[in-house]
Amino acid sequence: MRKLIFAITAVATLDFAAPVHAGTSDCNKCTAADGMGVAHAADRLAERGRYLVSIIPCTDCHTPGTLYGKPDMTKYLAGSDTGFFIPNLGFFYGANLTPDDETGLGKWTVEQIAQAITDGVDPTGRKLAPNMPSEVFHHMTKDDALAIATYLKTLPPVHNKTTGPLGPTQKPTGYVLQVRPVSNLP
Ligand code: HEC
Repeated sequence: MRKLIFAITAVATLDFAAPVHAGTSDCNKCTAADGMGVAHAADRLAERGRYLVSIIPCTDCHTPGTLYGKPDMTKYLAGSDTGFFIPNLGFFYGANLTPDDETGLGKWTVEQIAQAITDGVDPTGRKLAPNMPSEVFHHMTKDDALAIATYLKTLPPVHNKTTGPLGPTQKPTGYVLQVRPVSNLP
């Protein structure tokens, strides 16, 4: 357990600068001291994160087009064009999760990303809209949240500014998902 905590702490401060070598047979010789053990820990964490993102539908809300059956894989996890309308709160578009400095999570630490996933709070303290299912992700283990965050940092950065968040009276762009009573259908 102590080893695991060390690995995670090391990964968080590593910023992927450490070299990664190809051979797996050398892994047993790798140590934290030479940087290789740390690099392998980062690889394993990212692999776990990739797996988790492949079975949790992050892409539904974070890749444009997914919610209407036309995912744009050139913008995989780079922010949705479909906003959720939440009465009284406004329109919320799934954010760009790629590590682009300006429009994505490039400047967020792995811990900040993990906290947004499980606690629904961004690094400025803003509470994320309830359609980001952090209430559910709150049950995720800290290790899994860190694994997802580590994986997101390995994605190619995509420059894609998503709309919003917008207030309820502002004009949305792209597509909008809204839940209405049947009596109120157009
Ligand atoms: C049902 C839709 C939905 C799903 C599924 C979903 N998200 Fe989100 N997520 C959102 C929305 C919408 C926002 C923007 C909320 C806001 O701005 O208040 C968001 C925001 C975020 C943020 C904050 C980013 C920022 O720039 O503010 C992170 C990180 C995030 N999501 C990660 C994930 C991950 C990882 C998964 C899968 C494990 C996931 N989300 C699944 C809808 C979703």
